[in-house]
Amino acid sequence: MAENPPQSQLPTGETQLKTAQLDTTKLKTTENETFQPEANSTQANGSKTSDLLTPNAIACRPTAGPAPSSADGTGQDDDDPEVARKLAALKSIVIPDDWLPLPADPNTTNPVTRAYRYRGMVLLRVHMLCGLQHWAQFRGRPSDVIVASFPKSGTTWLQEIVWRVVHRETGAQSGGGRTLEYRFPLLDLPATERMAMTPLHEMESPRLIKTHLMYHLLPESVHTSGAKVLYVSRDPRDVCVSYYHFQRMVDYERYRGTFAEFRDKFVRGEVMNGPYREHVRGYREHADHVLCLTYEELHRDRVTAVRRVAEFLDKPLTQEETEAIAKHTDFENMKKNPGCNFKHWEQTQMVKTTDEGTFMRKGQVGDWRNYFTEEENDAFMKWANEPIQ
Ligand code: PPS
Repeated sequence: MAENPPQSQLPTGETQLKTAQLDTTKLKTTENETFQPEANSTQANGSKTSDLLTPNAIACRPTAGPAPSSADGTGQDDDDPEVARKLAALKSIVIPDDWLPLPADPNTTNPVTRAYRYRGMVLLRVHMLCGLQHWAQFRGRPSDVIVASFPKSGTTWLQEIVWRVVHRETGAQSGGGRTLEYRFPLLDLPATERMAMTPLHEMESPRLIKTHLMYHLLPESVHTSGAKVLYVSRDPRDVCVSYYHFQRMVDYERYRGTFAEFRDKFVRGEVMNGPYREHVRGYREHADHVLCLTYEELHRDRVTAVRRVAEFLDKPLTQEETEAIAKHTDFENMKKNPGCNFKHWEQTQMVKTTDEGTFMRKGQVGDWRNYFTEEENDAFMKWANEPIQ
């Protein structure tokens, strides 16, 4: 049963956000001659803005869209004239005033990827062109459950637990063979064929939704609808290591820098979805109504964590069910489970190389010890613990 309010009842915050996005007076001409504020508007050269992003792994293409074409099947050859054409066309996109371009990082070798700071958060061009519109149109339902996190903090882990708690799923497999991405789509971007997500408005209740948005960027409707929000955080050193490998692995980034370079970028707050400390603080400040968990406690005592999730979601479980969910969400079991191990990204080309490992990489607490010297650790922790300006 749909719980969406009619369009006319959109909460004020949503309306404002949508209006702000389309407010032409807020847009400046920078790298361009023309002005096209809407994600799917037609450029002067006849290209759709959404088309222009197709070399990007997280382009705004509908799930049922055509498969990418190129020599290696990814649609991402740097010397592909199609990519060159799209890059040239992207230059004509007007950057809104509140999207501040970050210095281009030569280690990010996907030519289409470009990072901006928007209202204190690092987002990519694809967020500017179609993500913002996607989340501005979001209409929360009281039964929505939102799992939020900074990337690589245990999102997938908590999502799988939440899915099982909500659906009382205690078997080895989950979701009848459907991927977690499909069962638990992202708020931050619309569905694409590479990320095989279900369009949010088509989902039946209760909807389970993932987001990496910072707390202050959540659509107003999340708060006014009474949706339940859970947040998972992780030791920033392990987040940084996991993120480094992930950014090397995913096609939308193709990071080729060293770990030290990535760590400096992480500390500068320039990695996608950063800055880390402000991200965590934003949710923890709302711990009176957001259930805040940590990756480390999921490791230490998952039975208790599953019970806390079940209580928070008002989904009482028996002790047997709680223990079964804890068991089937351990690292080895999730790694084997095609419903949540993200192996399908290797087919959809979201991941182009597995040299860095797989999505379910190590799943450990303390892997950072293999990456930080004692001095580097001291400096990193000094930064991690100092007050945010
Ligand atoms: S993402 O892309 O932001 O959604 O990634 P996210 O799911 O937040 O983080 C991925 C890391 O979580 C690890 N992971 C697990 N660890 C232990 N147990 C379980 N069940 C589990 N599931 C996922 C995953 O391996 C990534 O961490 P690293 O350190 O890279 O292995």
